[in-house]
Amino acid sequence: MKSIAILTSGGDAPGMNAAIRAVVRTALDKDLKVFGVNRGYSGLINGELFEMNRESVSDIIHRGGTILRTARCEEFKTEEGRKRAASVLKVFGIDGLVVIGGNGTFAGAQLLSKLGVKTIGLPGTIDNDLPYTDYTIGFDTALNTVLDAINKLRDTSSSHERVSIVEVMGRDCGDIALHAGVGGGAEFVILPEKGYNEEEICKNILQGKVKGKLHSLIIMAEGVGGTDELANKIEEVTGIETRATKLGHIQRGGSPSAFDRVLASRMGYKAVELLCQGKTSKVLGMKNGKIFDMDINEALEVPRSFDEELYTISKIISN
Ligand code: F6P
Repeated sequence: MKSIAILTSGGDAPGMNAAIRAVVRTALDKDLKVFGVNRGYSGLINGELFEMNRESVSDIIHRGGTILRTARCEEFKTEEGRKRAASVLKVFGIDGLVVIGGNGTFAGAQLLSKLGVKTIGLPGTIDNDLPYTDYTIGFDTALNTVLDAINKLRDTSSSHERVSIVEVMGRDCGDIALHAGVGGGAEFVILPEKGYNEEEICKNILQGKVKGKLHSLIIMAEGVGGTDELANKIEEVTGIETRATKLGHIQRGGSPSAFDRVLASRMGYKAVELLCQGKTSKVLGMKNGKIFDMDINEALEVPRSFDEELYTISKIISN
């Protein structure tokens, strides 16, 4: 292994820069050449590569987003696009590729490795929707961003004695919503994995009022949808003013949390170690606090699991 490249792809996630920094610095420590690829797989196809040095990654560990930019690339979904990407790597004399992203990014790496490219994947997505790992880079920061927003919404909801519905990201995965619901002390969490019952929610809101609650907070995962409709329904049934707030892309930005910085740094280091040991077609994850690697095909086959216990906790302690 003499030369490696790194790219970020799909939705950005806080901590991607910390991972890039760790990959670059570890590679340089091992006397490898390291290339950054701009704009993910799209940049790879177009040969947007540049050599990185120590300074390329100075002063970025605390920054959100990704200095390498990111993109979702249609052309890479074609065989022809992938062949072009593989030949660009060959032209630049690159022996290994580190990709940081979510499901789509890994699926891309899986296909590239079938063309003989040595790939290592780092899970980078706020959604935490890669079931083979406990945590993805960016999830913790996004969660803290949501909690910060919830704290603010609690103030105004209490003042006006309203119901607040907060829509959070996560695609079809409810992890952000569930963890934010527990951490933010929400009355209800509505998840794609569980669905909801309007009557039950309205009944509980009214019971909460009788108990002296000044507001009710509902965290709803975007994968369920219909926050405005639910707000209208709650107002109609309970007579209590209800507002829906979509946090949107705010959840993707911001300085990464300590947890995400350390996770990203550990994974970035390990990715280069694996490439140097000749390992390929692997993804990195964290289980029980330890970083591990797994075959990319196996990792993408791991079925979704759901944290029933945390869901139960969220219901019991919100009463
Ligand atoms: O995968 C990360 C994510 O932020 C999802 O939570 C969300 O559904 C999606 O990306 C939004 O994508 P875009 O930035 O392309 O609108």
